[in-house]
Amino acid sequence: MIHRTIRGIEIPALGLGTWQLTGDACTEGVEHALDLGYRHIDTAQAYENEDQVGTALRNTPVDRDEIYLTTKVWVENLVPAAVRRSTEASLRRLGTDYVDLLLIHWPSTDVPLERTLDAMMVLRDEGKTREVGVSNFTPSLVRRALDHAPILCNQVEYHPFLDQDALLDLAEARDLLLTAYSPLARGRVMEDETMQAIAEAHGKTPAQVALRWLLQQDQVAAIPKASTAAHREANVDVFDFALSEDEMDRIFDLAGDERLIDPSFAPAW
Ligand SMILES: NC(=O)c1ccc[n+]([C@@H]2O[C@H](COP(=O)([O-])OP(=O)(O)OC[C@H]3O[C@@H](n4cnc5c(N)ncnc54)[C@H](OP(=O)(O)O)[C@@H]3O)[C@@H](O)[C@H]2O)c1
Repeated sequence: MIHRTIRGIEIPALGLGTWQLTGDACTEGVEHALDLGYRHIDTAQAYENEDQVGTALRNTPVDRDEIYLTTKVWVENLVPAAVRRSTEASLRRLGTDYVDLLLIHWPSTDVPLERTLDAMMVLRDEGKTREVGVSNFTPSLVRRALDHAPILCNQVEYHPFLDQDALLDLAEARDLLLTAYSPLARGRVMEDETMQAIAEAHGKTPAQVALRWLLQQDQVAAIPKASTAAHREANVDVFDFALSEDEMDRIFDLAGDERLIDPSFAPAW
């Protein structure tokens, strides 16, 4: 496993995403991932699986302090009292005293960002989260957040088909982690000819090449979701090969601006 070090904090660069993993499949999937060596798990209040992630954390022989655990505060819970109430409920469901990273899941147009961040920083001071961060924030929203609180991370859609240059530049300039969600473009990387050609040259799959491409970018972590055991195994088997500069560039050239995750409440990019 490789790590990112952001302002002295170590974060495993590859994690398991758990959106749409529910019930026993979620518990078993998280336990299996931890058996395979994953040490970073991504959940959210909105995924309605924190209970199942919590069961996996109780069942696994891996110590809690070896696991990097992220959850996210849903958009309806961004006023200060709800930040506290909902985060404490997340911790109860997860069966842990703290998360490593607490994110604002989506920016709010109703609640001033600074009020939410202040409430999250109080939770950090109390030890209920180690760090705070944001998700689905545009560059200008990230700058506004950084002006107010030392956010560690912006979790956004990032894969070979989406240009994130502006956020990557900002991540480098301000020493911020960019966590890539939907890193496999929800499976679409498998169908792309360039990805297939590069994969073939390495004896890997396009999904593994996409993850490797992300992991060869300094400020980036990736959290692929896999409900099948074989996919979880494949996604952690990306540390025994490297992409050349030319291969990296060919993948960068695939970037466009179409988002796969674009709900009505998304900010204007
Ligand atoms: N912050 C946010 O707003 C936000 C939004 C979206 C996602 N996320 C996070 O990011 C995580 C990942 O994103 P995602 O679930 O949207 O998409 P993704 O990880 O890009 O893709 C998941 C899809 O790819 C398939 N897959 C996984 N590994 C594969 C492999 N090695 N070969 C071929 N196919 C493979 C999975 O199939 P199987 O499931 O059948 O194995 C699933 O259909 C989420 O689970 C969540 O934790 C966050």
